[in-house]
Amino acid sequence: MADQLQYGSAEAHTPRVVAYIRDDDSAGVVRQALSDLGAADTVIKTGGVATALTDATEHTSGRLLIVDVSGEDDPGARIRELANMIEPSMAILAVGETNDIRLYRNIREAGAVEYFFKPLVTALVARTCQAVLSGEAEAPQSRTGRTVFVVGVRGGVGATTVAVRTALRLSENPPRPVLAVDLDLQSGDAALQLDATPNHALTEALSQADRVDDLFLERGLIHATKRLDLMAALEPLDAQTGYDESALIALLDKVSRRYRYVVVDVPAAQAASLSRTLHMPSTLLLVSDARLVSAREVARWREWLGGNTAERTILHVLNMNGAPGSLPLAEFTRAADQAPDVVIPWAKDVASGALLGVKAKPEIPTLDRGLEPVLAMLSGDVGNHKKSLFERVLG
Ligand SMILES: Nc1ncnc2c1ncn2[C@@H]1O[C@H](COP(=O)(O)OP(=O)(O)OP(=O)(O)O)[C@@H](O)[C@H]1O
Ligand SMILES: [Mg+2]
Repeated sequence: MADQLQYGSAEAHTPRVVAYIRDDDSAGVVRQALSDLGAADTVIKTGGVATALTDATEHTSGRLLIVDVSGEDDPGARIRELANMIEPSMAILAVGETNDIRLYRNIREAGAVEYFFKPLVTALVARTCQAVLSGEAEAPQSRTGRTVFVVGVRGGVGATTVAVRTALRLSENPPRPVLAVDLDLQSGDAALQLDATPNHALTEALSQADRVDDLFLERGLIHATKRLDLMAALEPLDAQTGYDESALIALLDKVSRRYRYVVVDVPAAQAASLSRTLHMPSTLLLVSDARLVSAREVARWREWLGGNTAERTILHVLNMNGAPGSLPLAEFTRAADQAPDVVIPWAKDVASGALLGVKAKPEIPTLDRGLEPVLAMLSGDVGNHKKSLFERVLG
C-alpha cells in the first residue's frame, strides 16, 4: 500500500550533514573525517551557533549538525536553543576551544551527542559521525518531542480550536518543528482551521503501523505552514476507521523523533478507549466550556485520568467562559471540585478565527492571551514553570 501513497512530493533535498566551523584547520579535519566515511551529502560553512540558528529558521532536517561553540558565553544554552529549533532526530556534535569537564557535561545535557575540543582529531570526529550516520548513536532522549493531548470533555467545547492554536503558536517564535494530529478521522476540523487538505495517510498509519517509515511520513505529512505539519483525514462517514491503540502509540513514538511538539486532538468519544495513550509522558489539556454539565464532566474526566505525575501534567482549559449558559467562575469551580488552570473567554475573534482559518485570520488575540500560560509551560521546563503557571492563573 505504501507505493500507492502519492500525497505530495518528497521534500527538497537537504544535506545529511551540515557543519558550521569557525577556523580552517578544524574545517579541514571535519571535511577529512566525513570524506573518510564516504559521506558525500555534506555542507561545511564558516561560522558558529549564530549562523546555524539563522539557517535553522529555514532548514531543520538532516542527520547531523556539527557546530562550533568557540567564543560563546554560555555554550550549553546556545546548544539548547539550537536543539529546540531542529528536528529531534538530527544529532548535534559540538566543537569548541575549551577542555573542561563541566562544559562537556553542560553541552551533553543540552542535547549534543558529543563535544570535542580543538585541535580536532580526525579519527575521533569520524567515529562519532559514523555512529550517528549509521544510526548507532541516537539523539539523546531529552531531545525527543513533547506530546500534547487535547481532549474535550464533550463535543463542541472548542478542543480543536485550542489544539490547532497551541500547535500553531508552538511552531512560531521561536520557529520549531511541530506536528498536529487530528484523530477524528471522519469529521475532524483541524485541517479546515489550518486551510489544509486532509488525506488518507493518518488512516493508513493507524491501520498499518509497521508501514510508517520516513518515506511514508515524507509523503503523507501535510505541510500546513512552514513549521507546522498536519496529519488529518476526512474519511467517508460509513468507512471503518477503528484502529488499534498500539498503532497510535507506535506512530506517536515515530513522530516524536521528528518534531519538537506533537499536538494530538483526541475526540471525546475516542478518549475512553485510549487509556494507555493518555497516560504516556505528556501534557494533557482537558478542555471544557463553562456550563454546569461540563463542570460535572471535568470532575469525571479528572477522576478517570488520575492525578498529575512527574511525567504527565493535566491542565484544565475552561473555554468559552461567559457564553450564554455559563456558570460564574466560582460556581463552576465548586461544581467541578477544582478551579480551572486556564480560562479563555467566549469571544467573537475566537469564533471567527476558527471559522475562517489561519490564512484569512492569522490573529486571534483572545485565544493567544488565554493560551499564554500553557505555551510558557510547554516551551520551558515543566517543573519550573508549573508553580508560576498556577500562581499566575489562580492568583
Ligand atoms: N472561546 C471561544 N469563543 C467563541 N467561540 C469559540 C471559542 N472556542 C471555540 N469556539 C467556536 O466553537 C465551535 C466549536 O469549536 P471546535 O470545533 O474547536 O470544538 P470541538 O470541541 O473540537 O468540537 P467537536 O466536538 O465538533 O470536535 C467553533 O465554531 C469555534 O469557532
Ligand atoms: Mg474537534
